[in-house]
Amino acid sequence: MYRDTTCGELRLSDAGKKVKLSGWVQRIRKMGGMTFIDIRDRYGITQVVFSNEKDASLAEQANHLGREYVVMVEGTVEERSSKNENLPTGEIEVSATSIKILNRSEVPPFTIEDHTDGGDDLRMKYRYLDLRRPSVRSNLELRHKMAFEIRRYLDSNDFLEVETPILVKSTPEGARDFVVPSRMNPGEFYALPQSPQLFKQLLMVSGFDRYFQIAKCFRDEDLRADRQPEFTQIDCEMSFVEQEDVIEMFEGLVKHIFKYVKGIDFTEPFPRLTWAEAMERYGSDKPDIRFGMEFTDLTDEAKGHGFGVVDDSEITIGIAVPGCADYTRKQLDQLTDFVKRPQVGAKGLMWVKFEPDGSIKSSIGKFYDDDALRAMGEKAEAKAGDLLLLMSGETMKTRKQMCELRLEMGNRLGLRDKNVFAPLWVIDFPLFEWDDETQRYYAMHHPFTSPNPEDIPLLHSDTGKVRATAYDIVVNGTELGGGSIRIHDAELQDTMFELLGFTPERAKEQFGFLMEAFKYGAPPHGGLALGFDRFVSILAGLDTIRDVIAFPKNNSGRDVMNESPSPIDQVQLDELQIALAPKEQS
Ligand code: AMO
Repeated sequence: MYRDTTCGELRLSDAGKKVKLSGWVQRIRKMGGMTFIDIRDRYGITQVVFSNEKDASLAEQANHLGREYVVMVEGTVEERSSKNENLPTGEIEVSATSIKILNRSEVPPFTIEDHTDGGDDLRMKYRYLDLRRPSVRSNLELRHKMAFEIRRYLDSNDFLEVETPILVKSTPEGARDFVVPSRMNPGEFYALPQSPQLFKQLLMVSGFDRYFQIAKCFRDEDLRADRQPEFTQIDCEMSFVEQEDVIEMFEGLVKHIFKYVKGIDFTEPFPRLTWAEAMERYGSDKPDIRFGMEFTDLTDEAKGHGFGVVDDSEITIGIAVPGCADYTRKQLDQLTDFVKRPQVGAKGLMWVKFEPDGSIKSSIGKFYDDDALRAMGEKAEAKAGDLLLLMSGETMKTRKQMCELRLEMGNRLGLRDKNVFAPLWVIDFPLFEWDDETQRYYAMHHPFTSPNPEDIPLLHSDTGKVRATAYDIVVNGTELGGGSIRIHDAELQDTMFELLGFTPERAKEQFGFLMEAFKYGAPPHGGLALGFDRFVSILAGLDTIRDVIAFPKNNSGRDVMNESPSPIDQVQLDELQIALAPKEQS
């Protein structure tokens, strides 16, 4: 037997007990005739003490241990003379009576503690060591607990977990597919699923009624802090439902998780914003509503004062930043630099300071007298002591830029507290998105999303105005999940394909099997998928989903630990009948 106790469980009440522990040597300290060793396992850290006086040869063995050696220790639990309040086991130590080295370790490339000296790249290269760090481990423990609670909730609501294939047909859904060549079918490829969308709809045709899957999804897209090329969705679909039923069920799921995993009880319904409202008030379809600073449309107030930039703009938006009228010239210049960064892309920033004494200072005083500035301030609800920030330009672009600035101000003012959670639903998304480059409409969600029944008459006449029966759930400025009620009517689906520029042949080639299935009694259905990695990282208060994935990829889509992707043997290529194009000269 290697152990009868874990490194996290001993307390003062265990004093006098004889115990056996196994784990990794985290730290070795020598003080006088004593050697102290911290032993770590999944459950915690226990201090083991070796005394030269009691047993010199044992103490000598301890002196020769190295960091991350795997050891088995026997000893007696004793009260510590100097207690460590930061450690659950900090009131006791184990006075060793024997030690056995189970395995040696090379000196690890970074210290395996929460505050490590290892940089990101090094930690990813040695991810298996990084995972020994308690903070990383606790993220995976949280992930497990959430998966467990998700299954508990969905099971108790009659959802069946059904696995769907990983080798699927390439049916581009928005992002690029990862493709897999087929040896048995030379020249043909599978794709890895971007989501189980079509399969879950087929399961509804099969009568499964309530499906879910904690599903791996794959998308070959540019990576960001909240995007990985392979990620996990809590994917769900329901039959005989309307939007309200789906929202209610999954609001229930999100509340269940907050309650049982985080101890937070949301007693009120989550707020809802239409997409149009979200864009108007926050410039984003995933607004962070933990704080105010909502947009005010100041177009009418700003126009007609001889300021060309404003007069030539479609829109002027203002936000009142509380208590920042004392911003210095340097701070204001920093904000201007911020909005001019290519990632934000604004041409400039205007500001008005409403000083506590009632006076006004402004970057646009040349064009606006105090009354005009005060009128803008009043509309934006800027109070004495507040700073009004303004931007002008094309409507959608200016909203997006102002959204970035609002979030930046939220960060600067410490208003984006990671311990505060502000979920909401964004509903009534447009069904289509116009793309200037290709001069055609794209489905904002996917081609199977049903239009809002009220807007069906507009499908041909005012395509861009048609609202979808689609909804997103947003938490703290992150899109946690999204879904829709699907089209189950073949004729309406044909119209959708036509509006999306699919010829009947191409629609048949890509989605024929779904269309065929729909001929055999597709029930009204709808669903949604929550990003599981994002959900865990929000609850863990992390900025990136990498920290909640055991073996993540870096921003270039590489696993630096196993060095993938990597070239494959010529033999493998030959078997697949694949010839590589010569590398392009760069
Ligand atoms: P959607 O594409 O909105 O919907 O994806 C659902 C949720 O999955 C998460 N997500 C990601 N997480 C990490 N890395 C990524 N690259 C990534 N891409 C998406 C997000 C997102 O909200 N089939 C539809 C759902 C439906 O209609 O039922 C779908 O996949 O949190």
